[in-house]
Amino acid sequence: MKILELKTKYIGKQHIWLTQTDSTNEVIKRLLRDGQTIEGESGKISRMIEGSSHNGLTVIADHQLHGKGRSGKDWIDEIGSNIAMSILLRPGLRAESLSQLTLVSAMAVTKTIKDMTGFDAKIKWPNDVIIGGKKVCGILTELEIAAGHYCVIIGIGINVNQSTIPDELKDMATSLLNESEGCVPYDRKAIIQSVLLNFENYYDEFCKTGNMSDLMYEYNSLLVNRNEEVKVLDPSNEIEGISRGIDDMGRLLVETEDGQWHHIYAGEVSVRGVYGYV
Ligand code: BTN
Repeated sequence: MKILELKTKYIGKQHIWLTQTDSTNEVIKRLLRDGQTIEGESGKISRMIEGSSHNGLTVIADHQLHGKGRSGKDWIDEIGSNIAMSILLRPGLRAESLSQLTLVSAMAVTKTIKDMTGFDAKIKWPNDVIIGGKKVCGILTELEIAAGHYCVIIGIGINVNQSTIPDELKDMATSLLNESEGCVPYDRKAIIQSVLLNFENYYDEFCKTGNMSDLMYEYNSLLVNRNEEVKVLDPSNEIEGISRGIDDMGRLLVETEDGQWHHIYAGEVSVRGVYGYV
């Protein structure tokens, strides 16, 4: 049965697990924009009401027909094998805090993977989760305004039991099953439950300050490439330097050869190792 058993206070307490949809982020947007009802085995969620209702609402799908990745890319899954889920948040935070939620989400997924599999999962700033140099999870955070309030949609895609990685992605992507050399099919429901609980704990901590100051130390301990050479690519610029971890605003600090420290904002920027993806 596609119903979660959660130890959370509010994250995922309202949830719907769909067999198939276009994109779980889009399902939440339609609820926010048009009041479109979401129906699944576990019940239905209808019309958005004013204020902070539906904070923590979570939509999960076994398969997305039009999964969306960052920078307008597609996010492709293997039917019924992976995790595609979106969490709706209605935080009373300032706009500049919102992009940092993506880092908070990466911490939650990384903790779950480490605890449940023992793999040495790391974060590639800002929000890819990596095992052995390959991406196992991507996060797409989107903003909406509903009833005059910011709403944040955190879309999380985790490659769990995907057995075949397309040839063109083999050097960059993996799944939990792949990492266990095909031996262990993982319990997706247990992983979702754990991610939601970890997310709630980190998110509550984050909301106390509205920035990464209380989480920065742990985030930096999970950061792949820390104190190593990286290349920061954005549409207009390229910087090479040493990654020094994040600051309390979640910006990546990169020290260039001339001794300058650059504060890099997440967004459409991507960071690579000098010799490859990580
Ligand atoms: C990335 O490019 O790394 C981000 C991938 C985000 C994928 C997830 S799956 C659940 C949610 N729904 C979507 O359409 N995308 C996100």
